[in-house]
Amino acid sequence: MRTSAAALRLPLKEAYNRTIVSGKTFYLETFGCQMNVHDSEKVIGTLMAQGYAQVPTPEAAGLVLYNTCSISDKAEQKVFNRLQNFKREAGKGKIFGVLGCVAQQEGEKIFERAPHVSLVAGSASYTRLGEMLVQLEAGNRRVTGLSLDTDETFDTPFTRRDNPHRAYITIIEGCDKSCAYCVVPFTRGPERSRTSESVMAEASGLAAQGYAEIQLLGQNVNSYRDPSPAGWDFAALLGRVAGIPGIRRVRYTTSHPRDFVKPIVDAMDENPVLCDHVHLPVQSGSSKVLAAMDRLYTRDEYMRRIEWIKTAKRKYSITTDIIVGFPGETEEDFQKTLDLLDEVEYDSLFSFKYSPRPNTAALEMRDKIAEEEKQRRLVILQEKQRAIQIRRNAELIGEVKEVLVEGRQQALGQWIGRTSDNRTLNFTHPENGGDSLLGKYLPVRVTRSGPNSLVGESVTVV
Ligand code: SAH
Ligand code: SF4
Ligand code: F3S
Repeated sequence: MRTSAAALRLPLKEAYNRTIVSGKTFYLETFGCQMNVHDSEKVIGTLMAQGYAQVPTPEAAGLVLYNTCSISDKAEQKVFNRLQNFKREAGKGKIFGVLGCVAQQEGEKIFERAPHVSLVAGSASYTRLGEMLVQLEAGNRRVTGLSLDTDETFDTPFTRRDNPHRAYITIIEGCDKSCAYCVVPFTRGPERSRTSESVMAEASGLAAQGYAEIQLLGQNVNSYRDPSPAGWDFAALLGRVAGIPGIRRVRYTTSHPRDFVKPIVDAMDENPVLCDHVHLPVQSGSSKVLAAMDRLYTRDEYMRRIEWIKTAKRKYSITTDIIVGFPGETEEDFQKTLDLLDEVEYDSLFSFKYSPRPNTAALEMRDKIAEEEKQRRLVILQEKQRAIQIRRNAELIGEVKEVLVEGRQQALGQWIGRTSDNRTLNFTHPENGGDSLLGKYLPVRVTRSGPNSLVGESVTVV
């Protein structure tokens, strides 16, 4: 039995009941970034369209899939731990598959390391997923999808979206940069943009289904280039998506500073539907380290982009990613990163200890930093950032912000809201039961603040 596109929008339980008749069941666990999370939504949709039902545990599933991340050694090990735990289950007819970045990176070596695995496929091969499932069903126990030689993107009408209010749309896949530490170009292949027609059709379809918030995804959304004759760049695409009736908020991740051009800020200024937030990963505050990382910008060039954002018409929150302990990073370089934190005053950041990755240029670099030193720098960085966030969030007390209501914190009697500038703002509201407020946009006054979130109360705006 095939699942209709309509069934994919049903609550999970109902969709499950419709497809379970085929007897084919799967469990999927996802690791890694939002691109992976959204890939999984498309993989799940594809499986359901082929008559599979999703079940909540690996024990209950005939097919167990892991959509993996390889950004660090720690992330990579997670899948091998999972596979180890379920080794014995394979004898009982359970089929295991490894998808995503570790699959692409390790390829057929996974069959040697975990012989009970039957499917190894990277994201660049998901357009062939249906065919690979047929091979598995036919009894093939060594099915692979590992070619990176593609100009295709994985566009599918069968997407099983998890979040009922905020929808991801991939606009560009792969990455053509070669940051010296990063495995992504090797796991996701060359950069390829979707046509603007296909992005706009998906966004309009989502608006028609009632989604008011869209998040555009790519490893480097700024280098989006419409392959169709319209030829839109990223700023043009942003403006058009934000103009779709029914769409209230548009976000995007992630930006590479080199390709972050002024027209992007101008497009955001022009249309408040484009959220008050820019994630602009810097990685290091030292131009010397940035050059060694092959990031293609200096600290000054990065700061110019920060100035565009800070002098824009609206107030935007700015967040970033930082790596500590890249080979050759001296104490002086690290101090420059700390100093950059003071200069920019980020609203939030993701921090990483440098992790050597296969195939990357940094593997060969000298002056490796010891693990304890990386850890020491990470703690100092995080403490500094925590103090900045406490200060910045406290400045927001008294402000009224619009939130999208995303959940409830039953125990605290609070609703969970997300602001346009990507803060969590938990709030109280006279309506304190059920799920009546979920998905609504409401004004909330900030009354308290912490390092990572805000607390407030709903207000009636007249
Ligand atoms: N395309 C995005 C980043 C994707 S990976 C960009 O260019 O900004 C997300 C983050 O993981 C990176 O920004 C970087 O901070 C971190 N990262 C990537 N490779 C890493 C490695 N080998 N060790 C530690 N952190 C890493
Ligand atoms: Fe990795 Fe650099 Fe590409 Fe980002 S831009 S995915 S950090 S290679
Ligand atoms: Fe991880 Fe691959 Fe994303 S390595 S961070 S899942 S692109």
